[in-house]
Amino acid sequence: MEKFNVLFSKEELEKRILEMGKEIDKDYEGKEIIVICVLKGAIFFTTDLLKNMETEVSSIEFVRISSYSGTETTGTVNLHIGLDINLEGKDVLIIEDIIDTGYSLKFLLDYLGSKKPNSLKIAVLLDKKEKRKANINVDYTGFVIPNKFVVGYGFDIDEKYRNIPYIGYIEN
Ligand code: IMP
Ligand code: MG
Repeated sequence: MEKFNVLFSKEELEKRILEMGKEIDKDYEGKEIIVICVLKGAIFFTTDLLKNMETEVSSIEFVRISSYSGTETTGTVNLHIGLDINLEGKDVLIIEDIIDTGYSLKFLLDYLGSKKPNSLKIAVLLDKKEKRKANINVDYTGFVIPNKFVVGYGFDIDEKYRNIPYIGYIEN
């Protein structure tokens, strides 16, 4: 028995991430990108997605933000680790685990956009569409999901369960 209800199995994640990699490759053909992984949740998705892409990646960078406490968003986004590299004129792809209210990505778009990249795109694995508050244009989405709290494959509850190899959910 799995510990949580399964939302996406390891195999379903692999299949969709392979498709996303191909889609992203098509758009960036002939270009070189800087990837920005949003810690901590997106580490699993980022490494799997990048292994399924052929686009030249000149650098993989990390930012760390947080807004959650337990299973609730606090509404305030905190930046814990920022960027110290130059993004001016670069094609930048943000890789994030999930978009929920959209406040985290809104914050990141403002922060990274101020560094004057040539382009700034977003790839997210999951989208909790019905909870959106900020108007954000996501370029690549793995799955749109209902409003359930997910765990595993990078997703945590107060830092726990990130290393479960599938995505599970908690009844609410
Ligand atoms: P937003 O700012 O409301 O869009 O929330 C995005 C952030 O909240 C993500 O980067 C996650 O860290 C976290 N988050 C949102 N929903 C979940 C969930 O169901 N499980 C774990 N983390 C979540
Ligand atoms: Mg996150």
